[in-house]
Amino acid sequence: METSTKNLKVQKAKTSKINEVDFDNLAFGSVFTDHMLVCKYKNGAWELPEIKPYQPITLDPSAKIFHYGQSIFEGMKAYKDEKDIVWLFRPLDNCKRLNVSAKRMAIPELPEDYFMDGLVELLNLEKDWIPQSAGSSLYIRPFIFASGNGFHASPADEYTFIIACAPSGAYFSGKVKVLIEEKYSRSANGGVGYAKAGGNYAGQFYPTQLAVEKGYNQVIWTDDNTHEYIEEAGAMNIFVRINDTLITGPTSDRILDGITRKSILKIAKDEGIPFQVRKITVIEVVEAAKDGSLKEMFGAGTAAVISPISTFGYRDTDYDLPEMPEGYATRLKKRITDIQYNRSEDKFGWRYKV
Ligand code: PLP
Ligand code: COI
Repeated sequence: METSTKNLKVQKAKTSKINEVDFDNLAFGSVFTDHMLVCKYKNGAWELPEIKPYQPITLDPSAKIFHYGQSIFEGMKAYKDEKDIVWLFRPLDNCKRLNVSAKRMAIPELPEDYFMDGLVELLNLEKDWIPQSAGSSLYIRPFIFASGNGFHASPADEYTFIIACAPSGAYFSGKVKVLIEEKYSRSANGGVGYAKAGGNYAGQFYPTQLAVEKGYNQVIWTDDNTHEYIEEAGAMNIFVRINDTLITGPTSDRILDGITRKSILKIAKDEGIPFQVRKITVIEVVEAAKDGSLKEMFGAGTAAVISPISTFGYRDTDYDLPEMPEGYATRLKKRITDIQYNRSEDKFGWRYKV
């Protein structure tokens, strides 16, 4: 298959919206840059990607995305260093995971160079949109959806891949309170939990709304079979620190193989932090909170970076975590963001210069 992106068509926006944006008060993912990358799958092949002005898309009411939810996405960030150089963090891992999700959702896999070359070209055009202030970055959302038509419940024959970008601040604005969920499940064995499929998130909204009504930000999912084991949160993997040991659950077909999670495990090893990758029971976390051995709990993800959890709720009781300004979360966040923003050596080779 011809996968050269050398002739990538670029149609520039006539005017820029950049002066309308308050870069000092950026929410997460709510203003969008001037351009987007669009690539269509038709007649059994991906066409060459194009860059065009950011704009609404038109779809037929029978487009399969609306009826059968055939859609997948990725989440990544571009960081600007002090010298205005733009960096990505492990972007090929996102590309590979997009194709893992694609396979599970019967979506045709995208050529890696369409993803990588298209992304780099788009970022070169949107360079001025990448914030430099602490904690801010350009959030990048690559996604594929079934744009082919028909009510027949079968995979579409046409797909659209888009990359849209949003200059963004922190995902969580304050302390993160989570509720350990025992009734609803995010995913099941043999299901699609390991894919970044849109429906995985839609299915979380109702139980999360119930948790938000009780004052929590996110749900921590437990395994669908017994609800005895901690799996992950709505938009991040979960780590706990009991005494000095950092623990995270193993990935499975129910859990997203987070890029932040696997990077943290590498850094923890490098830092000499004792860590375990093993199943974590809810009961051991509750017991550890009661006897004071639960020192930290945090979420890890591209949007969330490393977000310390201040409280977890379980069966109508709230358990507060101690404040640990010099804890593992702070230490690991510094290590990872120093690599991302090109403030330190990159001994693992994760940084990618745009
Ligand atoms: N788990 C879920 C359900 C997520 O949506 C995310 C976010 O992408 C993560 C974990 C963390 O993954 P990553 O670190 O690759 O962003
Ligand atoms: C990310 O961290 O990039 C995600 O995809 C989480 C998202 C649901 C905001």
